[in-house]
Amino acid sequence: MRDSFADQESFTRIRSKGGKGAGRRNPDHDFEAYEPYFEAYQGAPDDQDDQQDHPTDSHAPDGPPTGDRWSTWDQSTPTEKGPEPRPDWVVTELAAVDTEFGIVKTGKEADVFLLERAVPETGRRTLMAAKRYRDGQHRMFHRDSGYLEGRAHKESRVSRAMAKRSDFGKQAIAGQWAAAEFTALSRLWSAGVAVPYPVQILGTEILMEFIGDPTGAAAPRLAQLRAEESDVDDLWDQLGASLAVLARDGYAHGDLSAYNILVHQGRLVIIDVPQIVDVIANPRGRSFLERDVRNVGAWFVSRGLAEHRVDELARELAFEARLD
Ligand SMILES: Nc1ncnc2c1ncn2[C@@H]1O[C@H](COP(=O)(O)OP(=O)(O)O)[C@@H](O)[C@H]1O
Ligand SMILES: [Mg+2]
Repeated sequence: MRDSFADQESFTRIRSKGGKGAGRRNPDHDFEAYEPYFEAYQGAPDDQDDQQDHPTDSHAPDGPPTGDRWSTWDQSTPTEKGPEPRPDWVVTELAAVDTEFGIVKTGKEADVFLLERAVPETGRRTLMAAKRYRDGQHRMFHRDSGYLEGRAHKESRVSRAMAKRSDFGKQAIAGQWAAAEFTALSRLWSAGVAVPYPVQILGTEILMEFIGDPTGAAAPRLAQLRAEESDVDDLWDQLGASLAVLARDGYAHGDLSAYNILVHQGRLVIIDVPQIVDVIANPRGRSFLERDVRNVGAWFVSRGLAEHRVDELARELAFEARLD
């Protein structure tokens, strides 16, 4: 079905619908041109047929009449779907189709795409961010040692492949990072931390709430926020409230920075959580908590936050995590 992308007609359609023009007009949003997206797409190593159990159609033998693929909702098992209560914007209809509108951002270890899931001929549609962990040679492994290798694998074959960094091993590592992030998002969302709602996971792809406008313009990262659009004290309060919930649950983000926080119309959302750290079990738990607060605190102080508030939050989080 992904072959349908190679045909000029659907590619043109995506280009004309997508955010390329909008991205160029607004440098705050990270839409990139569709050409690299197209290339990345062509080279996608997980390019396998995931069309199953769907009725075929006379227009496209193995794909839906519109869109790029059938909704993958029914391919995820119950534990691969997001936590209850499920928000009502989540499209679960089997007749739904997925359409990709291009890359939101290429990251260090994953690429994030804009995906629409819609039920044809009804008004029902939703936008999601599809985060795909890279399993090719471009993926960087700086977070792998220490974080993943201590985890037990049922299959020693998987451990050996991971250690050797074979293609299969890389795919296994990418899948584990995706699973780790999906589990973390589910847990944090349920606890009340401001994170995107995780819709489902399938292999190396996580589908989650898109933080941005209905037009497909992604929310800027905190680091890109212009001074006049940010109420620094209010954002700090929102961040503190989320981090307190996280700490009470026993976790630190582990990679918190002004790049892993989005701000959509004044609402702060924490992203990129595969490496959350159990601050009780981890002997360096307290320093992870502190480091997160200091990293992001430096950005806030540079924007006018009183410095003592950073120390106060660090102390509060240690207290919430019962590390005092
Ligand atoms: N749910 C989302 N909604 C909108 N944009 C997102 C979402 N998740 C990620 N992004 C964008 O993609 C970028 C990379 O995502 P991130 O989870 O930080 O991955 P990485 O591990 O590559 O840093 C983010 O900085 C943000 O701009
Ligand atoms: Mg990130």
